[in-house]
Amino acid sequence: MSSASDELLDRWLDAVLATPGLTALKDRGEAKRVLLDDALAGLELVRSFEGPIVDVGSGGGAPGIPLAASLPEREVTLLEAERRKADFLERWTAELPNLRVVWGRAESQATDCYEVAVAKALAQPPVAAEWCLPLVAEGGAVVLWVGPTADAAAVARAAEQVGGELVESPPGFLVLRKVGPTPPGFPRRPGMAKKRPLA
Ligand SMILES: C[S@@+](CC[C@H](N)C(=O)[O-])C[C@H]1O[C@@H](n2cnc3c(N)ncnc32)[C@H](O)[C@@H]1O
Repeated sequence: MSSASDELLDRWLDAVLATPGLTALKDRGEAKRVLLDDALAGLELVRSFEGPIVDVGSGGGAPGIPLAASLPEREVTLLEAERRKADFLERWTAELPNLRVVWGRAESQATDCYEVAVAKALAQPPVAAEWCLPLVAEGGAVVLWVGPTADAAAVARAAEQVGGELVESPPGFLVLRKVGPTPPGFPRRPGMAKKRPLA
């Protein structure tokens, strides 16, 4: 990464910590580990799939802002349901020409618009899979940042119901390929994925 993007990511981290309501983290070292280092741990994996990227439930901008700074040739969209967070994210589009922000819910977006969807701490992984898969076109990929206790079998079952397939994934991630079209009836209306999870 260039020193210019290192400097931008330093300022971004400071701004996340200084802006009320973006993160519960107080310690800068911990915030760097959780928001920046964890985001960049997925950089090569995301780079291995081509095309426009959407970060679903970007919050304060992780992993989307570190990815956009590190992949300047890729279009990165930050999708965030909370207006206040989307407003904070919008500020960074002035400095990252490949970045754009959409305020809205995953379930309310047009389908098949991206090649790669990423999500970190969005929801329980099967719910995140249901929300992310409709956003990517057939042949595209979803990269979920997950903890060590994530139930991969449940994610696979959810993915299969929305045109996806769980593929071999490095530790800390679950990778889904979009192998078929989004079936009729998906995305389900807001609230349904959590109320009646697919798996
Ligand atoms: C726990 S935060 C994680 C933020 C960030 N990805 C991170 O790792 O720091 C989850 C974010 O997802 C957003 N969110 C929840 N459901 C969503 C949905 N259906 N569509 C878009 N954003 C959503 C919330 O507003 C919140 O900002």
